[in-house]
Amino acid sequence: MRSSEIKEFYKKSIPERIDIVSKFSGLEESQVRLLANTGSLEQGIADKLIENFITTMEIPMGIATNFLINGKDYLIPMAIEEPSVVAACSNAAKIARRSGGFRASSTESRMIGQIQITNVKNMPDAAKKIEERKNEILAMANLASRTLRGMKKGALDIEIRTLAPLENTIIIHLIVDVGSAMGANVINSMCEITAPFLEEITGGEVVLRILSNLTPERVSHAEAIFKADLIGGSRVVKRITKASEMAKHDIFRAVTNNKGIMNGVDAVLIATMNDWRQAEANAHAYASMNGFYTSLSSFEENDNGDIIGKLTIPIAVGTVGGTTSNIPKAVIARKILGINGTEEFQSVIAAVGLAQNFAAVRALSDEGIQKGHMGLHSRNLAIAAGASGKEIDLVSETLKKEGKISMARAREILEEIRKNNGGR
Ligand code: MEV
Repeated sequence: MRSSEIKEFYKKSIPERIDIVSKFSGLEESQVRLLANTGSLEQGIADKLIENFITTMEIPMGIATNFLINGKDYLIPMAIEEPSVVAACSNAAKIARRSGGFRASSTESRMIGQIQITNVKNMPDAAKKIEERKNEILAMANLASRTLRGMKKGALDIEIRTLAPLENTIIIHLIVDVGSAMGANVINSMCEITAPFLEEITGGEVVLRILSNLTPERVSHAEAIFKADLIGGSRVVKRITKASEMAKHDIFRAVTNNKGIMNGVDAVLIATMNDWRQAEANAHAYASMNGFYTSLSSFEENDNGDIIGKLTIPIAVGTVGGTTSNIPKAVIARKILGINGTEEFQSVIAAVGLAQNFAAVRALSDEGIQKGHMGLHSRNLAIAAGASGKEIDLVSETLKKEGKISMARAREILEEIRKNNGGR
């Protein structure tokens, strides 16, 4: 019986690991050869980034064009597997450009570190002690980063929280301005450094010491005008506002609307190798901060009968630290983007999220998304069916013409093409 319990897998060389996996899973020789190819990310470096490394994973990266944000032109690298996203985003940016492009801004980089103190015997006394020794706690936290201290950033304040279901528990919020960093590492260090002192003064027992991925004080805002005559006239404008109203009030629609925003946000985060899981968790939690889950964006008709689109979204990406500099193509993506600093980076991402969202909602409010989506999907199916070179367009065009876009039909068409060409 094959077992997944492999002694010291992490100590094996990469070829040994691949060999073990290959035998376990019955990989073919050609597949093993593919695993050995890690593209621009050297095996030796990748092996140091994660554990039990065997290979890298490719994902297409495209460029969204037409972006004008706060008067500056950008090319936006987007890494995503879903067809239509890059095209739709570029198209929305083109429309926004006609009215001056996107206006976007970001707040300061304030984040929260949480320290959970349990088994507190005297809650009012413990809270009083924390309050009294606040400056000492902050000074201790600030030992974690000389850079932040030098910039007059770092741990700024403390909030004391209690939650009814958690008996004898105080939750400390360490409010930290992380400057140009994403912030996770420095905040986690601050929480760990201060925990023993907090135990000492409260008599409690610290359990969790970790940043919160919810960043309501690190938020970006983007807005743009989408002119009625460029998007199908006042009928489409009215329909877009109705769609937006639904996303505001209906959780089932809100989550799909927000997923459309994240199509753009995540694609930039992945291209630049930032933590997109954090962005997802953050955005969706933020969308429910008022007690119900709602849309992060809104589309309203302005006095000229055009659409004004607005998006407010928490985004926490740094321009210092992180693994980006180890991933050659992420470094290139960052260079293509041409941002100077965290606030600009976050603002650009918010504008991309808004563009992506607008493109989807506009299409849904008019012709629907299947037409464009399935057109591109047909190319993917053609490739998956085995088509190459000119065959891809031939199969894809036939699929679209017939309106029956399926893998089975793609295979049949490919077979017919090859038969007509007398084999390949
Ligand atoms: C698909 O990836 C995203 C959309 O569903 C977003 C939306 O419905 O707004 C098209």
